Amino acid sequence: MRLLHLIVLYFVGIAVLCTFIVDLIDSRTGNDHVTKHKQSENEKNEDKMGDKYDRVFWIVQISDFHISKFFDKQRAPDVVRFCKDYLSVIKPDIVLATGDLVDAKERNGRGSGQYRIEWEEYHKTLRECSKFHNARWLDIRGNHDAFDVPDLQSQQNLYRQYSAQGLEHTTSYKYVHTTKYGKYSFISVDACPDPGPRRPFNFFGQLNDDRVTELQRHRDETIDSNQTVWFGHYPTSLIVQDPPGLKHIMRQGIVYLCGHLHTLNGLMPNMYTRHKTGMLELELGDWKDNRIFRILVFDHDILSFLDASLGEWPLVIITNPKNALFQSESHEPLYRQRESTHIRILIFHTVKIDSVAVYIDNRFLGNAHHVEGPLYVFQWNPLSYSTAIHSIRITVEDIEGKKKNVQQPFSIDGSRPDFLLAPRFLLMMNISSVGKVVFAVMVFVYILFLGFLRQCSNIRNFFFEGESLLEYYVNRWLWKLWLTARTNSIYYPILGAILYVTFGPWFAGDFLENHTGVLFVWGLFVNGSFIPGSHTYFYGIFHVITFHVPLLLHLSHSLDLLYIASGNLQEVKVRRITPFQRITQTYLPFAILFLFQLFTTLTEFPGAYGTKAITLGPVRTGSLFLTAYLQYSLFHIPLQRVQSVNYS
Ligand SMILES: *[C@@H]1O[C@H](CO)[C@@H](O)[C@H](O)[C@H]1NC(C)=O
Repeated sequence: MRLLHLIVLYFVGIAVLCTFIVDLIDSRTGNDHVTKHKQSENEKNEDKMGDKYDRVFWIVQISDFHISKFFDKQRAPDVVRFCKDYLSVIKPDIVLATGDLVDAKERNGRGSGQYRIEWEEYHKTLRECSKFHNARWLDIRGNHDAFDVPDLQSQQNLYRQYSAQGLEHTTSYKYVHTTKYGKYSFISVDACPDPGPRRPFNFFGQLNDDRVTELQRHRDETIDSNQTVWFGHYPTSLIVQDPPGLKHIMRQGIVYLCGHLHTLNGLMPNMYTRHKTGMLELELGDWKDNRIFRILVFDHDILSFLDASLGEWPLVIITNPKNALFQSESHEPLYRQRESTHIRILIFHTVKIDSVAVYIDNRFLGNAHHVEGPLYVFQWNPLSYSTAIHSIRITVEDIEGKKKNVQQPFSIDGSRPDFLLAPRFLLMMNISSVGKVVFAVMVFVYILFLGFLRQCSNIRNFFFEGESLLEYYVNRWLWKLWLTARTNSIYYPILGAILYVTFGPWFAGDFLENHTGVLFVWGLFVNGSFIPGSHTYFYGIFHVITFHVPLLLHLSHSLDLLYIASGNLQEVKVRRITPFQRITQTYLPFAILFLFQLFTTLTEFPGAYGTKAITLGPVRTGSLFLTAYLQYSLFHIPLQRVQSVNYS
């Protein structure tokens, strides 16, 4: 009997781990290097990075506009201002708008849905902008643009009607920019779930087989490009995907540009990394609150970029030598730096430039001169800096006396500094898998620990021997938890509850305006589709930490407070306690637990998915009943039952 119980628990534990962890193992990450650029022995002179205004073009990226009918009405007018003041000066060939074009959130910040008025404003913005630039405007959907969109063909998919690309392209698409010196491909990655549920279960992107096939097709069709730029809304770490995954598909690309995380409230304004494939991933801060934009330049097929914000002038980008941090030998003809004859700098400004001073390793070398357009050059000999990392600084002064310093590391031998750890971590791990594993391990440990306690006929055998305070408390709590594990009327409900959260439906709700869906921690069923779990695991972790663990501790403490038991539970008696103890040590913790649970039950999910989330909400609403029932049970333990679980 005892063995059987352990075996069953063990298998449940393994099942939990397996169900959630198996797909984590992705064997195909390394060895994805692609080497596109080989040094040609006698490269023609025109390919050299010299003083000609040639083989260079640039584009602009903006992300997360969040045009809203409730908040900050300046977002759209500022885009127009940006076009008027900046795009007319920068004159990019392409503008990438990487998602969250509209906010689509209700005033209370919980509900969400597509509002035509916001899309009309976006459309109007595009029209007004087009007066000031000739760029190709490539926009894509973000999660906000897909809130409450039942399917791509639906009337609610306003992206189709009001965006620049939506008429032609419902999801991912490619655009090839052809110049006389090469072909440059831009492939968008639409990872919005389809159907697109209302917030918050839309925070992670997702790529189903069709979308993956589509991306592979775009990749195959553009394989002969000089450079391929991938762009999407979600960082790759927030896209749920099967191995070998998106990074593998994109491995020929030099960069993946995205948004979505804004600047993490200012914590990470520079979220950049380089993946194992050599591809860079550059998250861009938001337009919404920070009015950030990015200029990317391809100069002789070498990529440089600048992140700036509205109001900033002049905009200075050193394209040769390239910033060493962002070098990617496998994707760029970096040997051209070594063979170059000139330092090359692009400067965009509204007033005339007076001087462009060049410093290397803090030594003044001279002034760069203007060639044409935004290009300034300065003759140099790269071989003087042929080893290790050096630093180049450009000081630009305009005729009004305004100065701007730009400094970056460079290397001719390929040495490069490291990216910051935090952004690397955030962009390179698979966040939904991490959530899944943490959740599964928490449930696993919870179940097995309780099961182990239940198997002990006398917990005192496992007590720690020492005399220290720590050991005293550990032993006290082992005892309390053991009491819980040995009390049938408490043990089974709490075990059942955590298994329910892991496997059972959490709640039903209006995930789309006219479609009820059912949410499990492992995924969401809505409108005939299944959207795999991702964000849900983090809610699962939250629920275990804020409900299951405190509940267990509360029950265990109360049991010990209310009953005196012998070490083998042969004798259990009710303990006499004062009303004060009763109130502060059992009723009060119960009230706190219950009220907090009541608060979360009534606010978040119903706010987002309607009252069904309360009435048909076994996990959160059910936890209220469970808490109340267990509180009642505490005082009604059938004492023989306490003894009857004593197998020995
Ligand atoms: C683009 O690729 C072609 C073919 O490989 C090459 O000849 C050309 O120099 C490349 N363009 C640039 C700007 O490097």
